[in-house]
Amino acid sequence: MIDSDSFRRVVGRFATGVTVVTTCVDGVDHAMTASAFTSVSLDPVLVLVCVEKDARFHDAILDSGSWAVSVLAASGRRAAEWFAARGRPLGGQLDRVRHHRGATSGAALLDESLAWLQCRTTAVYDGGDHDIILGEVVEGATSGLEGPPLVYYRSAYGELR
Ligand SMILES: Cc1cc2nc3c(=O)[nH]c(=O)nc-3n(C[C@H](O)[C@H](O)[C@H](O)COP(=O)(O)O)c2cc1C
Repeated sequence: MIDSDSFRRVVGRFATGVTVVTTCVDGVDHAMTASAFTSVSLDPVLVLVCVEKDARFHDAILDSGSWAVSVLAASGRRAAEWFAARGRPLGGQLDRVRHHRGATSGAALLDESLAWLQCRTTAVYDGGDHDIILGEVVEGATSGLEGPPLVYYRSAYGELR
């Protein structure tokens, strides 16, 4: 069986976009950088995000059931780094990142994004040390930003040109 370091090296050759997934529980904002985001179904309109069971975001998204995905532009790199920093303070973590609030989810939508989706959890599947959160898209929009997307490849951020 493949070990986890080899696995990381192999799947690191799969270039992805970068998202920040957000949710709001009892008035407290939670956010996490996630590249394990996928569109799943057109009818119904479904997406999924894989969330590590040990991440603090895990309990928040399960408690809330309502969440948002910001698809980052290349200019959102600092936000991606911040929301991937383990153990960052939860209180006020969104203060340093320009955002507005989604009407349906109440979750933060990052301004340095190419698109946003607001979702409601429809199923949670066990995925080893992650849970696979399936969500129905209740609202989606492009931002109007035309810049390149932020991409992640071989454990490094880059831009699609
Ligand atoms: C580019 C990138 C993509 C990531 N994608 C995911 C992901 O899809 N799912 C996940 O659970 N963690 C992902 N992480 C790790 C989380 O962002 C990180 O573990 C989390 O923010 C830790 O926060 P915590 O201290 O609040 O638990 C990713 C990290 C980076 C740098």
